[in-house]
Amino acid sequence: MAAARDGNGIEIRLLAEGFGAEIHGVDLAAGLSDAAFAQVRKAFADYGVIFFRDQKLSPDQHLAFAERWGEINVNRFFRAVDGHPRIAEVCKEPDQRSNIGGAWHTDHSYDDAPAMGSILLAREVPDAGGDTLYANLALAYESLSDGLKQTLEGLEAVHSSRHVFGEASQTASEHSSTDLAGRIGNPNAATQDATHRVVIRHPETGRKILYVNPGFTVRFAGWSTAESKPLLRYLYEHATQPEHTLRFQWKAGSIAFWDNRSTWHYALNDYHGHRRLMHRITIEGVPLS
Ligand code: SIN
Repeated sequence: MAAARDGNGIEIRLLAEGFGAEIHGVDLAAGLSDAAFAQVRKAFADYGVIFFRDQKLSPDQHLAFAERWGEINVNRFFRAVDGHPRIAEVCKEPDQRSNIGGAWHTDHSYDDAPAMGSILLAREVPDAGGDTLYANLALAYESLSDGLKQTLEGLEAVHSSRHVFGEASQTASEHSSTDLAGRIGNPNAATQDATHRVVIRHPETGRKILYVNPGFTVRFAGWSTAESKPLLRYLYEHATQPEHTLRFQWKAGSIAFWDNRSTWHYALNDYHGHRRLMHRITIEGVPLS
């Protein structure tokens, strides 16, 4: 694990080569100086997902930290934390079987300007299980062959919220066969479809990123769903090979802040009979190119 402590007292410990960093030496409740914030911001852009440990944040302090990054997105589908409409609740009770986010995806790719990132704070976690996996989509792009890179550069893909959050998902398989009702809702709001380039550039670093995901990408633009499937499946297998991923183990007070442009995440559902309660704030992003 690489680590470096600097003049702001911040220590950045990488969890994988160039991907995922634990940031130590900060108290987010007290707030960050401008210099410390700039350093954290650079780590976020460079490493895709950053983590903090042992943070004691009230909902208002969580919101104050989020507001330093940009405008807050009010989630259309998740239940909100009582009294805090801008904080989404990600919860699974001991008697529930389905979790939220239990498959590879990146948030909001169905929006024209997809959310920049999400700040997930662990309030209550099981003693074991409930980890989250992250995948590095910049590395996934870079490790493709030059030939496939060239093909992908010319493609766009269509992303949608309908099959995940819309009426069809409620009446067909997803929600009616699970117990997500009450935690995920508002299917009438699932009207978003967006088309994005398959290879985007990170808005801050300019690094190239593979921008399709198993949760919300439905097909390549101008291709049928059936035609798109084999190549998408290949890309998904490629992106999720262990060398492109890391696994984060939560404790109460841990925070993960991921970049939705350059990473995917996957909440493991291996803790039935135990409670897991997280608070999520999502930050608005910019159109991608
Ligand atoms: C999510 O997809 O936002 C949930 C991630 C998690 O609970 O670990």
